[in-house]
Amino acid sequence: MSKNLVHLISQTEIVSTTKRLALKIDRDYQDRPLVLVGILKGSFVFLADLVRKLNIPLENIEFMRLSSYGSSMMSSGRAKITMSPPAEAIAGKDIILVEDIVDTGITTDTAIQYIQNFQPASVRLCALLDKPSRRQVPVQIDYLGFTVEDLFIVGYGIDFDQKYRQLPDIYYLEEE
Ligand code: IMP
Ligand code: MG
Repeated sequence: MSKNLVHLISQTEIVSTTKRLALKIDRDYQDRPLVLVGILKGSFVFLADLVRKLNIPLENIEFMRLSSYGSSMMSSGRAKITMSPPAEAIAGKDIILVEDIVDTGITTDTAIQYIQNFQPASVRLCALLDKPSRRQVPVQIDYLGFTVEDLFIVGYGIDFDQKYRQLPDIYYLEEE
């Protein structure tokens, strides 16, 4: 069965949304050294655009990786952490986790709880997309780009089977 790409969010909309988020982060962290932690791989494009719209100096940019989207994760209610920042990059720091899409909430919830273990000064979440209809674990998104329906999203860093990450716009996959 082949799949169709259906256009959902344009580059223009993405640019204005990342600007809006960056402005809010600039205001909230004016005198607080901020560490951004990007959740790999999906957030890499969003994070790269977001940091270039921030005016505040960043203290650091770190990355974290969790096990991929799949049924094993659903049943356990936990994602597996496969890469994480060093403890000293987190302890005592103001952290914003940057995620591509919050779906069941399991990935972000696991990431936030893991970061909390290292006693950061604060932790907030910035997500490009939210799919609230699929939530299994409650997650507070402090900086949100767009809310989407229960669709399979690709493009702008987000993949289906590692494909489509390079697309500048956001699409959803429709089965033909
Ligand atoms: P969650 O743990 O179910 O919230 O899912 C989070 C992760 O699943 C995201 O970081 C994405 O990598 C992946 N994911 C969720 N929804 C989609 C989608 O529509 N397209 C592609 N990846 C998705
Ligand atoms: Mg992801």
